[in-house]
Formats: sequence, C-alpha cells, structure tokens
Amino acid sequence: MNAPAQTITITRPDDWHLHVRDGEALRTVVPHTAAQFGRAIIMPNLKPPVTTAAQAQAYAGRIRAAVPAGVAFEPLMTLYLTDNLPADEIARAKDAGVVAAKLYPAGATTNSDAGVTDIRKTYRTLEAMQKAGMLLLVHGEVTSPDIDLFDREAVFIEQQLKPLRRDFPELKIVMEHITTKEAAQYVAESDQYLGATLTAHHLLYNRNAIFTGGIRPHYYCLPVLKREIHRQALVAAAIGGNARFFLGTDSAPHPAHLKEHATGCAGCYTAHAAIEMYAEVFDAAGALDKLEAFASFNGPAFYGLPRNTGTITLKRESWTPPESFAFGEAELKPLRSGEALPWKLIA
Ligand code: DOR
Ligand code: ZN
Repeated sequence: MNAPAQTITITRPDDWHLHVRDGEALRTVVPHTAAQFGRAIIMPNLKPPVTTAAQAQAYAGRIRAAVPAGVAFEPLMTLYLTDNLPADEIARAKDAGVVAAKLYPAGATTNSDAGVTDIRKTYRTLEAMQKAGMLLLVHGEVTSPDIDLFDREAVFIEQQLKPLRRDFPELKIVMEHITTKEAAQYVAESDQYLGATLTAHHLLYNRNAIFTGGIRPHYYCLPVLKREIHRQALVAAAIGGNARFFLGTDSAPHPAHLKEHATGCAGCYTAHAAIEMYAEVFDAAGALDKLEAFASFNGPAFYGLPRNTGTITLKRESWTPPESFAFGEAELKPLRSGEALPWKLIA
C-alpha cells in the first residue's frame, strides 16, 4: 500500500454558496474566504434583501473593498427571488454580471421573510431566467409546520422541485446544501440542468453533533444535520465522480450571542477552514484524488465559467482554529474552534 499523501496541490477552488453579510462583518469573513477560494457565490439574504441589479453591484463593491491587497478574489452576485421580482430585472441583472437568483421559500430560514410564498407567482421571472441562461439556486425545504423538520427537504423535491423542473426543463437549477440521500439520489438521476452543492459540515457531521453532551448551537444550521445514513450518502455523492455535485460551504456567520440563545440562529461558520474540512472528509473516505474535481472543476463547469488559474496547497499538519474572531462589535465562533484539524492550507 502507498504511504498516505502528506501534501496535496489543487487548482484554486471556488465556493458556490456563501454568506458574507455586510458592513463591518465583511472585514472578518471576506479575507477568510479569499485566502482559499478564487470566487464565491454570494447569497443575497441581507436585511433588506438584494433584489435589484444595482443593489447587487453596490454590494459586490463593498465585498471587493474587504479583499486584502494583493489577493485575487471575485464575488459572484445573486438576486433574491420574491413574489414580485419583475421579469425585466433579469436582463438588467444579467448585464450587470449577476449569475443567479436564489429561491428561499418564505420562512424557510434566516432572512427569508421576503421569500417566495407560492412558486407560481415567480413564473414570469423564471421564464426570463431560463431565456437569459441565469441559474436558479434553491433552498430546498418546504415550510409547512405539518411537515416534520427532518423531512422538509425530501418533501420539497416531490411537491415543488419536480413540478418546477417539468415546467422549466431548461432552467439550470442548483439544489443548495443538500442533506439527504433522497436529494443526492434525485440529483444523481436527473439531467444536466440540475446540480447540487454540499457543505463541509453536512459531510462531516450527523445530527448527533447538535446534542452531544448538551445542546450545541454552533452545529445548528438549515437544512438541519440529518442521520448518519444521509451523511454517508452525501460523502458518496461528493467523491463519486458525478460532475453535478460541487463545493458550496454555506458558511453563515452569526454573532455568537445570537447562536447561544433561546432561539439560536441557524448557520455554521466554516469559511476560516473550509477547504481543510473538505480535505479531511475526502481523506477519511480514501478519495483525496477526487477533491480537485469537486472543489475546483465541477462548479465552473455547471455555471459555464472558466476554471481558476493558480493552485493552493494543503499539508497534513494538525492546527487548531481560534476560539473566536471579531465580528463587528460581536464575536464569531467558528466551527471546530479550539479543536484540531488534520489538514492545513500552506500556500
Ligand atoms: O443555516 C443556515 N444559515 N441556512 C440558511 O439557509 C441561511 C443561513 C444564514 O443566512 O444564516
Ligand atoms: Zn445559505
């Protein structure tokens, strides 16, 4: 047997699903992402949400201003789909370089109050997107209180995604942060118009992580972590060679005091060590050789964009992320704070 690899060099990866927030927070979180990734798809769920081409351009400017000097990083902007996002905003957005719109079912997650109440209300806009070649990114969970929280993704596929794909067969859709074997299977069996992102935390953890030794709010995100069989199905999808699965961290920073709270916010912060966590998953699965396609090739192929030039190098070297980062006036507690990681980004 070959000795395990001690370093791995891959084409600079991209993050196809990221929350960076706004204002002071950008100074902490943007440098973390820019140190690893060449580009990132920026989620539009600000307060108020990013719903126009002009707002997206202004937000991109604020993000670029937080990129450290000498670092090349490109934010890829998205619009927040609402019941009344006008169809003619799509052409303006396309011209402004916006690459996608995000569908949040109203009430599904953080800052989704302005989200879509009935997908049929968005059909003229989706029509314009299909025509313009703009992608639709989906938070795939139904919101009905009658549906068990752990079943909301699987039910979304049946009730919403299948009819949507029938009605817009050539709309490119990314099912974001999938968490179940049902979603992995549905995406694998679909065609070139459907892809999916996988987070590091859903690949590393099952739902026990939220309850080990007490309630652990920093492992709470939406869609919530699922059973071990689902985690295993996600790992199989990530390493399986299907090019429609790709890296999207869903790194979602919140002030620590709002996560450690009676109604703690959903979101895991992983941007400080994202590629290291993915390397850990692929290594544990004996599939480090599959990391580059997942992290650096499959996303650009699905979005119709060129691959990054340049590389990053990871070394098998234990290091421990800090307990917290400054986050405006607050504190940000990253996933794995104070806990050793086996892979380290060295260049
Ligand atoms: O856990 C999550 N946090 N899931 C989401 O869909 C949104 C995100 C956030 O913005 O905090
Ligand atoms: Zn997200």
